[in-house]
Amino acid sequence: MAQLWGGRFTKETDKLVYNFNASISFDRKFFGQDIEGSIAHVIMLAKQGILTKDEKDAILKGLTGIRRDVEAGRLEITEEYEDIHSFVEAKLIERIGEAGKKLHTGRSRNDQVALDMRLYTRAEVLHTDELLKELLCTLLHIMEDNRETYMPGFTHLQKAQPVTLAHHLGAYFEMFKRDRSRLKDIYHRMNYCPLGAGALAGTTYPLDRNYTASVLGFEGPTLNSMDSVSDRDYVIEFLSALATIMMHLSRFCEEIILWNSDEYRFVEIDDAYSTGSSIMPQKKNPDIAELVRGKTGRVYGALISILTTMKGLPLAYNKDMQEDKELTFDAIDTVKGCLALFEGMLRTMKFRKDRMEKSAMKGFANATDAADYLVGHGVPFRDAHGIIGKLVLYCIDKQCSIEDLTIDELKTISPVFEEDIYEAISLKTCVEKRLTVGAPGPAVMGVVIDTAKEYLAKDWHEEDEINIPK
Ligand code: ARG
Repeated sequence: MAQLWGGRFTKETDKLVYNFNASISFDRKFFGQDIEGSIAHVIMLAKQGILTKDEKDAILKGLTGIRRDVEAGRLEITEEYEDIHSFVEAKLIERIGEAGKKLHTGRSRNDQVALDMRLYTRAEVLHTDELLKELLCTLLHIMEDNRETYMPGFTHLQKAQPVTLAHHLGAYFEMFKRDRSRLKDIYHRMNYCPLGAGALAGTTYPLDRNYTASVLGFEGPTLNSMDSVSDRDYVIEFLSALATIMMHLSRFCEEIILWNSDEYRFVEIDDAYSTGSSIMPQKKNPDIAELVRGKTGRVYGALISILTTMKGLPLAYNKDMQEDKELTFDAIDTVKGCLALFEGMLRTMKFRKDRMEKSAMKGFANATDAADYLVGHGVPFRDAHGIIGKLVLYCIDKQCSIEDLTIDELKTISPVFEEDIYEAISLKTCVEKRLTVGAPGPAVMGVVIDTAKEYLAKDWHEEDEINIPK
């Protein structure tokens, strides 16, 4: 048991207590960020004359040596330390002696952990954004190829009006685009440095918090030291954005699972992204889509968990907040894994255009267009609606589609019908005429696709001059 705070105690910590309290098994994940934060702190301390140049040089050499050795596998992060902060400090003192004991001057683990968590999540916001961008590129690619691939659009899972595959996928494009914009907002809101807040009330050392913030690439220091050590809003916001990404992925997965079923056969998931059954030889299951849908609950769970943990906490730091890490790390890894797998599944999936088109021709997806035809010939819309309703009933009875009826049959229902009705309710016309902004008509869809291309050609990281960490 190696801890930083033995002085005031007369007894050893109970072993079970020690294990219950320790966080090294999971906060080792931000070892890199802990070192990075310590380096910035030490450079600032020396600049302020709180450390000598020799002390600074010795500490920096020690810290970079520890980082190098851990990364190379020569130095193991072991569970005998309470947390990653204790591990780094203990190793530093072991390696460089007296100067190492000055690393923690003007700092508390409270502002240190707040910094580490912020650095870690800040980088992950960018990594998640990159994966979303890749998914958007794949989506756009498929959209470009399918501006004229007709398919039924559904409401209540009932055929409603014909759309195109590009249009349907375009809906997901918008969702993932919003997800990226949420990440951008979060990035900028969280990008303030808590280091220098100390335990809760700042410090009497003349720290230059603006300087530390700029060394670490923050827009500035946080402005209230109590808030700095007790704020986990950025974790909550990020988890909320991750939960929304999963909700979008899950809806998409649900559709793919349906479309991949024998009843639809709109798509065929590639063999590389499918799995078989141990008993039924004919099976090819959409397990990846199901797992992504399933993992959504886990990410929602992380969000609800941290919200609940935070709700009763008085200011400032409380140990409850140590609970922010495991579920957040798990949620981030889960979402990144799901995004990468989903993108691969989508990229390799085959779209059965013939099946989609056939399906769009059945189920009266052109009924609204038939009503609009009558409106075009002077029938008020409400009357037209009633006439086409009757027509649909007639067709259901005859087990056919509207376009299968002869002109004489159509005329018995309404004398307004002429030969041009067939063209007016053809799939092509139904889609091509939908030209309001955001509609599936290939001409307007083309404009939206061009906008999407422009959007993907630019990157908010570049515009905002943010480097994506490795
Ligand atoms: N492991 C702790 C956490 O994750 C670090 C901060 C400890 N601070 C303290 N006062 N015990 O929150």
